[in-house]
Amino acid sequence: SSLLILNGPNLNMLGVRQPEIYGATRLQDIKTLCIARAKELGISCAFEQTNIEGELVTMIQDARGVHDAIILNAGAYTHTSIALMDAILASEVPTIELHLSNIHARESFRQTSYVATAAIGQICGFGAKGYLLAIDAAAGLSEIP
Ligand code: DQA
Repeated sequence: SSLLILNGPNLNMLGVRQPEIYGATRLQDIKTLCIARAKELGISCAFEQTNIEGELVTMIQDARGVHDAIILNAGAYTHTSIALMDAILASEVPTIELHLSNIHARESFRQTSYVATAAIGQICGFGAKGYLLAIDAAAGLSEIP
C-alpha cells in the first residue's frame, strides 16, 4: 500500500521556526523518520512540502486512485481553505489531519479546521512524533471497520 505525506506552508522552516511551539526537528529529519517507519510497516511513502495552496490541491487530486491514504499537515491553510477540504472530498482518499502543536490549546482562530470536516481523524499536540503516530493510524485504516 501507498501513503502520501503532505506538508503545507512554513513547514519547510521546522527546526528554525518557533521551536518552543513546533520543536527542534527539521522537516528533512521528519522525512527520514517517516520513510523508515513506513518501510518497517511495508508501506511505500511519498513525502512532500509546498508553501502554495493550489499545489496542495493538485497533489490531493492526483492522489486519487494512486495512494491509499494521505497524512496532511496543511499548516495555516487548515484554518482557511475550503479548497483543500473540497480537494480531500473529491479525491476520496482517506485523509488523516496532522499538526505538531495542539491547535485546540492555542489561539481561537486555530481551533477551526476545514480539513477536519473532510478528514477521517486528527492527530495534534505530539510534535514530530505525531507523524509516526499518523503513519501507524494510516496503516491501521483497513484493519478496523
Ligand atoms: C500547524 C498548526 C497551524 O495552526 C500553523 O499555522 C502551522 C503549523 C502545526 O503543525 O502545529 O503552520 O499545522
